[in-house]
Amino acid sequence: MTNVVVPSTNVVVPSGPAPAAPVGLLTPGNRDAAVRLLSSLVELGVDFKLGEDIYGARLSPVQLRDRICTGLPEYGAPVEQVMEEFVRTLLPYCKNEASPRFLGFGDTGADLAALGGGVLALLTQQNLINQSFDSPSATFAEIAVLRWLRELIGYTNPAVGEVTTVWDTGGIVTTGGTMSNTVAMMLAREHAVPATMRTGVREPERYAVVVPAGIGHYSVTSAVAWIGCGMRQVIEVPTAGYRYDLAALERTLRAHPGRVMAVVAYAGDSRTQTLEDLRGVLETVRGADEGIWLHADACWGLMAALTPRLAHRLEGITGFDSVTVDPHKILDVPYNLSALLVRHPQALRSIASHSDLIMQEDFAFGQVTPFLGSKGWSSLKLWAALRAHGRTGLATLVDRRLERTAAFCALVDSHPRLLRLHDPDMTAVAFVYLPAGFDAAAPDIELLNRVNTAIHAELLEEGRWFFHQFSLRDAGRIQADAVLHPLRFVGCNPRIEAAHMTAALEHVVELGLNLESRPAAGDRR
Ligand SMILES: Cc1ncc(COP(=O)(O)O)c(C=O)c1O
Repeated sequence: MTNVVVPSTNVVVPSGPAPAAPVGLLTPGNRDAAVRLLSSLVELGVDFKLGEDIYGARLSPVQLRDRICTGLPEYGAPVEQVMEEFVRTLLPYCKNEASPRFLGFGDTGADLAALGGGVLALLTQQNLINQSFDSPSATFAEIAVLRWLRELIGYTNPAVGEVTTVWDTGGIVTTGGTMSNTVAMMLAREHAVPATMRTGVREPERYAVVVPAGIGHYSVTSAVAWIGCGMRQVIEVPTAGYRYDLAALERTLRAHPGRVMAVVAYAGDSRTQTLEDLRGVLETVRGADEGIWLHADACWGLMAALTPRLAHRLEGITGFDSVTVDPHKILDVPYNLSALLVRHPQALRSIASHSDLIMQEDFAFGQVTPFLGSKGWSSLKLWAALRAHGRTGLATLVDRRLERTAAFCALVDSHPRLLRLHDPDMTAVAFVYLPAGFDAAAPDIELLNRVNTAIHAELLEEGRWFFHQFSLRDAGRIQADAVLHPLRFVGCNPRIEAAHMTAALEHVVELGLNLESRPAAGDRR
């Protein structure tokens, strides 16, 4: 068989029928070849993760679209060839978030035990929709993981001997914070108007959800829409310092008696990772209406539970009815892995699925996990990571992150052209580059945002360093309530060293200076 290289794409398409092997299923006959192939792919993936760079190459979306979106090949190809195509046509453009130059998030997916768990989950192919024949041991490993997570945030677990059905677990593993928050909103809906699952939403105004203004994650608003309550039911409450203004929260609840089905609080919001005053929210909400479902989004906040330095900052969380945690964000666990934990395990019964086809057994997670049918063993990654670190290892992991974050703050603070926008609770630091002549007494917010947005765009185009960017209401460091577009650092990745932080900030400043020395777009001829 001869191969043809498609002009302008470099994609190799075999021009005739495929050779006999190695394609198709793994069999005893191709065992050694399969082990060699898969081992070499593990090596490839490990080297990719260990690379210094974020990207091997950059192309525009249109260029990538035209190279990658080809028709289904007529003839097959040996797996080695398929993988070789992958290495040439896809891998160079993949983002490596484990790179120490990627400073904007922390989803490294690089925990060794978790990677091992992920490989084994792929190969063992358990289906946790049922237990008895589908996942005899995996189901109980998942229950163990959920109990560990509950223990970490402080929920009490029933004794193991009392776990006689999946309903005694008190949590579910989901695909991400978005799904966990969505399930939490379903629970709130059933709590507010029992049996809405059966009747459907009849009076949408009975399903209002209160969120903190300016710091919420879109997943909650989307969830309210997805579960049929309508986005219009979302009520925003003013915030101060990236936390609820508790007096405003109380006024809002009193202004909408009997209408609010849930209040959502962020134990670590998506922008600055600020930890909410959970005790304050708990008391305010319970004081106004005992029936409101209280949900804590602790996608980031789980990190605080891991170290005695921060665990007290979650005080009050055990009074919340549900908690979202996102180990793929904070524990270097490869995607996807999140969990929703509930204070009262039996609460999950209100959103159960029943089927006479499958799931007629006590430990079938399929009954209790909305939106999923077949359910892979993604929790094995977390089981392995938590088992490998243990409590003390987890505390050390987070403490080192806090030290790295403090070192970054010191670098920002010592630079006359950089300004930090908050005192970090955990590992996120939002900061801005200050344009030349920036006058703190009469700040030009439009210029500040223009320069910082341009710096971010340039960083993205170059692909050598990454800081995240979003809009953020200033808590008073520049001009209270002004909408800013800062850069954001996250100090989770242990490969980020002082030299990376220094070089990245120097580059930001260099870009800022260069941008300022260029004529503004309107001035060009
Ligand atoms: C606070 C918060 N909640 C929810 C989410 C959504 O999580 P996921 O991307 O895992 O769905 C995020 C993601 O950044 C987040 O920061």
